[in-house]
Amino acid sequence: MRTVHSLKELRTILRGYRRQGKTIGLVPTMGNLHEGHISLVRKAAEAADVVVTSIFVNPMQFGAGEDLDTYPRTLTEDQEQLEAAGNTLVFAPGVEEVYPEGLAMQTQVVVPEVSDGHCGASRPGHFEGVATVVTMLLNMVQPDVAVFGEKDFQQLAVIRKLVRDLMLPVEVVGAPTIREDDGLAKSSRNGYLTASERKIAPVVYQTLQTTARELTGGRSDFQTLEEEARNRLAEAGLRPDYFNIVNSQTLKPASTEDTDITLLVAAFLGTTRLIDNLSMSR
Ligand code: PAF
Repeated sequence: MRTVHSLKELRTILRGYRRQGKTIGLVPTMGNLHEGHISLVRKAAEAADVVVTSIFVNPMQFGAGEDLDTYPRTLTEDQEQLEAAGNTLVFAPGVEEVYPEGLAMQTQVVVPEVSDGHCGASRPGHFEGVATVVTMLLNMVQPDVAVFGEKDFQQLAVIRKLVRDLMLPVEVVGAPTIREDDGLAKSSRNGYLTASERKIAPVVYQTLQTTARELTGGRSDFQTLEEEARNRLAEAGLRPDYFNIVNSQTLKPASTEDTDITLLVAAFLGTTRLIDNLSMSR
């Protein structure tokens, strides 16, 4: 498995694969890989002959005071895991390679509506950063298929819309969230949790499940359910950022007519922000 850091080298290698008639799958990541990422690589390998995993901690999607500087950079360990998972090529560019003229001069991709609310409201500019770098990565690699985790539900919706709106010739595939045995969604940020916080963290998924059970049982007083869920999180020692019951396609507040519903949650545990979601049909 090769690792390249420059776009020139990446394109030269990919040209070779394309000449051989091979299809290309892309898994964009910020590194510090865990089983969740590896499941994306496996999914990409099922769909394409060659898998490119990009590792780039994208400064544009971090806000002031967020964890850009402390975000774990673990390239050697990531390479080992990717090699074992059958990844073909790692693209690990530096910031100057991706943003040669600097962040302030970078053309940005703005995806309306679906970027608003939820994480978009709590992290202004975050989805512009994600949409911009994902568009660039799709143009750099020009994959046939790109795989993203469903754990970042709103992010996946933003990416699906940008691919549709900009008519990018790529199939976007979502892959299910991988969880710890106690239900906590795997995330690079779980590594920030202290031992006592880690014990509390499964409450996030438990709260999603409790609310889903209430909905399945016939309740449709969404605002009260959201409030109850936020209270449950707070009682367990989390600081809820949001708990929203939304239409799975539009990500707008759910109505009683909606059949596909998603519960979206973000909550702080100490300084760590955890997100998760649960989709259901009624
Ligand atoms: O989900 C992530 O790791 C990042 O947001 C992504 C899609 C790699 C863009 O930087």
